[in-house]
Amino acid sequence: MSERAILVTGGAGFIGSHLVDRLLEKENLRVIVIDNFHDFYAPAIKQSNVRSHLTHANYQLVQADITDFAALSDLFAQTSFNAIVHLAARAGIRPSLEQPLQYQQTNVAGTLNLLELARQFRVKQFIFGSSSSVYGDNPHAPFQEEYLPQPISPYAATKAAGEMLAYTYSHLYEIQTVCLRFFTVYGPRQRPDLAIHKFARLMATGQPIPVYGDGTTERDYTYVADIVSGVLAALEYNQTRFETINLGCSQTVPLHRVISLLEESLGVKARIERLPMHPGDLALTHADVSKAKRLLNYSPTTTIETGIQKFVEWFKTTL
Ligand SMILES: NC(=O)c1ccc[n+]([C@@H]2O[C@H](COP(=O)([O-])OP(=O)(O)OC[C@H]3O[C@@H](n4cnc5c(N)ncnc54)[C@H](O)[C@@H]3O)[C@@H](O)[C@H]2O)c1
Repeated sequence: MSERAILVTGGAGFIGSHLVDRLLEKENLRVIVIDNFHDFYAPAIKQSNVRSHLTHANYQLVQADITDFAALSDLFAQTSFNAIVHLAARAGIRPSLEQPLQYQQTNVAGTLNLLELARQFRVKQFIFGSSSSVYGDNPHAPFQEEYLPQPISPYAATKAAGEMLAYTYSHLYEIQTVCLRFFTVYGPRQRPDLAIHKFARLMATGQPIPVYGDGTTERDYTYVADIVSGVLAALEYNQTRFETINLGCSQTVPLHRVISLLEESLGVKARIERLPMHPGDLALTHADVSKAKRLLNYSPTTTIETGIQKFVEWFKTTL
């Protein structure tokens, strides 16, 4: 069988590094990662995420910025990619209200750079890491892919824009494309700015945890291994040219329940600092995953109880 080459953007990050773990288990597959080790959170964490990959014969790490078109062009000229999994982004909803221009630069201009190079170098497949946040504050849960995006933060708007650009390139240049809308991903190596990880760190050091709202906001928390299974299935999908597909767990969990599970697993009582709801925050996210089941045979298996336990086991190794 001939060797395939997959470009993973953001492959040093939380979800990207888990995806690379699984891709490197496959034979006849080269994995090329581009990541700029952005300091949105400690680059040392990203160095640690890629450490075990660096010695793998089928792995190559390119430290570059996806907004640097010339650097990307050089990379595409050197390697003929069969597929791109585009996960590099400025993530995080709240900071996007402070830095909308930076979010646009990476998430919109950076995505367009990759699509344009996919066109120029005839890359056949593009998988885009989109977000449940594109649904906005939609009262009709669970969210279905055909709902009109109603982003209420600059981050969410850049993800919706990325999906639109991916659709345009897929249509014009016959690029096999799947936009995957991830719902609140958690697990080992989770970004330190996200609630579960942030709370665990504060609780472990006896500090109060900031809770925006009254703790009843609900999220469809999705374990990272389930997300990665969905991404791998999307790489095998070729029935239609363009699809947008939710990857969630389809079980909503209120924030106060997450805090209780963390208390049990860490053996620490949380001290709560109540703050008003943030304007970019959603009251609820809830994925309808029937399309993912139908098209990708996607079937998330990790409950929040097991997932938080696994997260805490990993978290304790970082202390
Ligand atoms: N974690 C979640 O709950 C979640 C939910 C929905 C969507 N997503 C999306 O999934 C993707 C991965 O998220 P994550 O949680 O792993 O985030 P992450 O921040 O851990 O990973 C993103 C990676 O992209 C890299 N990066 C940022 N800007 C770059 C640039 N200009 N050039 C090259 N690399 C750059 C970062 O250094 C980082 O390693 C992102 O696109 C994010 O928007 C994540």
